[in-house]
Parts: sequence; structure tokens; C-alpha cells
Amino acid sequence: MWLTWRAAMERALYGEDGFYLRERPSGHFRTSVSASPAFAGAVLGLLMEVDAELGGPPVLDLVDIGAGEGLLAVHVLEAADPKLRERLRVTAVELSPRPAGLPEQITWSATVPPRIHGLAIANEWLDNIPLDVAEQTSDGPRLVMVDTRTGEERLGDPPGPAERAWLDRWWPLTALGARAELGGPRDAAWASVVSRLVRGRAIAIDYAHPVDNRPAHGTLTGYRDGSVVTPIPDGTCDITAHVALDACAEAGERAGAISTTLSTQRAALRALGLTGSRPPLELARQDPHGYLRALARASQEGELIDPNGLGGFGWLAQTR
Ligand SMILES: C[S@@+](CC[C@H](N)C(=O)[O-])C[C@H]1O[C@@H](n2cnc3c(N)ncnc32)[C@H](O)[C@@H]1O
Repeated sequence: MWLTWRAAMERALYGEDGFYLRERPSGHFRTSVSASPAFAGAVLGLLMEVDAELGGPPVLDLVDIGAGEGLLAVHVLEAADPKLRERLRVTAVELSPRPAGLPEQITWSATVPPRIHGLAIANEWLDNIPLDVAEQTSDGPRLVMVDTRTGEERLGDPPGPAERAWLDRWWPLTALGARAELGGPRDAAWASVVSRLVRGRAIAIDYAHPVDNRPAHGTLTGYRDGSVVTPIPDGTCDITAHVALDACAEAGERAGAISTTLSTQRAALRALGLTGSRPPLELARQDPHGYLRALARASQEGELIDPNGLGGFGWLAQTR
């Protein structure tokens, strides 16, 4: 069946028997959440900052959007001080079914709560929001169509006026054959999160590219069983594309954000105290087990802030 990439991704990932409704993400790729509980420790640090900013409200939201298997919420709850834990209202927003054995305190929902008073976090969610691909021809941009069985591509109609405007503003195509990924659906998804923030912070974390350095041929990628594969939208693999987080930021501002920080995971986690520094050698003599624990922790932090790996992810933080 020939579809635009957006329709093909929607069907392959979230349609009946789609990849995400059938598969568990951790079997196919590693995220910061699955790499180390140190990531949840940092999110707890953020949550405490937001709590202080809001003056310690009786109910504080933690909303994990695109929660996968719910691991981030589980780890944050485990690490939270009991007094904070009892004020937390934790929602995991996910299209796939609730995993067995999840703590009762975590609400599992297919939609973002209408009112959020606290922290909303979306780690590697936006890159899975389906989007169209356009290719530059001598007659201007055309949408790319894909055969859902084989991944073969051909050119379709020119993009509509809204998509053209998005391209002109966020991903201008000049060279013949250059391709762009039309981020409008991600902007809308992010704006809808920010619009639900009553007060607090919303954070999106993803592979990102800025308007002055978009990849000439796009970033559509498939993942299956831990390996990169050709992105064929047949439901057998994850399909992702990096995120124009700068465009999402502007959409968030239109939706009511009053402050925006666009940085990297490395900078954001270092500001939260993750350094990846090895423990002092004397500790090995005084407390060998403690030394080994600290060493393991340093190596996990190192992976999370590695500028050539997870540390290179974009962090978009907006407040209301
Ligand atoms: C790459 S996984 C990330 C999982 C987790 N956040 C992590 O970091 O390990 C993206 C998840 O977003 C979910 N997702 C995508 N679109 C969604 C939507 N509109 N509403 C809720 N969940 C969605 C997918 O089902 C998938 O589990």
C-alpha cells in the first residue's frame, strides 16, 4: 500500500497490531531511562526544583509522556523521600498496555492529563510522532510516498500551504533531491503538552537538529532488536526521526510557555550534579564495596552525559 510517510508511520507504529502496541521498547533500543537509574535520580532532582518553585503544593504532578514500560516513574517513586512521594500524582502517558506489576500509585493513561501542576517529561517521545517527508524537485517540494511492504519510495503531491509555511520557516529546501521531515505534528503535540501545564515545567528530550544545521537528507531510521535497520513501515521495526526542537520551542511559546531553555542533556544533567567523575582511590581501601558502587555510578553518569552519545540529546525545558 502506498501512503505518505506520516500515514505509514502512524499505521506501522500505532495501528492495529502496530509495533508499539505489540512490542516492548527495551527489546529494541536503549534510552537514558533504560541505561541507568541515575537518569531517574536527575529527574527526581528536577521534580524537587519544580516543587520548591511551586511552594510545595499538596499535590504535585509527575507526568511521563511516551512512558514506554513506565520505568522512569517507577525509579523516581522508589528514590523519592516518603514525604514527597505521598504528595506525588504520577501519570504514565502511553498508548501501549499497562505493564503487569506496576505500582498502584502510577496512573496509566493513553492521553495527557488536562491539567498539570508540576513536571511533565517526554524522553524520546517526539521522535516517534509520525511525520511527512518532502523532497525538493525542480518544481519545488513534493511529499514522499512509501510502499508499506517494501519501503520503496516515489514522489507524491506538493505539500499543502501549512506544510509549505513550516518548511519555509524551519527547514528550507534548496538543493535538488534534498529532503526535509515536516515537524508540524511534533510542534502540535508539544504545544498540547505545554497548554496543559497550569504551573510548572515541561521537558522534551530527543535527538535534535537546529534550523541552521538540518541534515540534508533527513534522519528517518528503523530499529529492530537493538540494531539500526532500513525504515520499512511494515510494523516490524521502530521508525524514528530526529526532532526540530527549536520549532517545538516556538510552538510551546505560542501555547503559553513563559520561559524556554534549549540545551543538551550533558549540560542539563551536569547542572543537576551528574559529573561522571571516578571516586577517589582512597575509598577503595576504606570501603571497597562503596568504591565499586561509586565507580559503577560514575560510569553510568558518564554514559548519560557523553557528548557523542546520550549527552548530545537536545533538552527543551519550558515553564508556565
Ligand atoms: C522511544 S519510546 C520511549 C520510551 C521511554 N520514554 C524511554 O525513554 O525509555 C516512545 C514511546 O512513546 C509512545 N508514544 C508515542 N506516541 C504516543 C502518544 N501519542 N501518546 C502516548 N504515548 C505515545 C510509544 O508507544 C513508545 O512507547
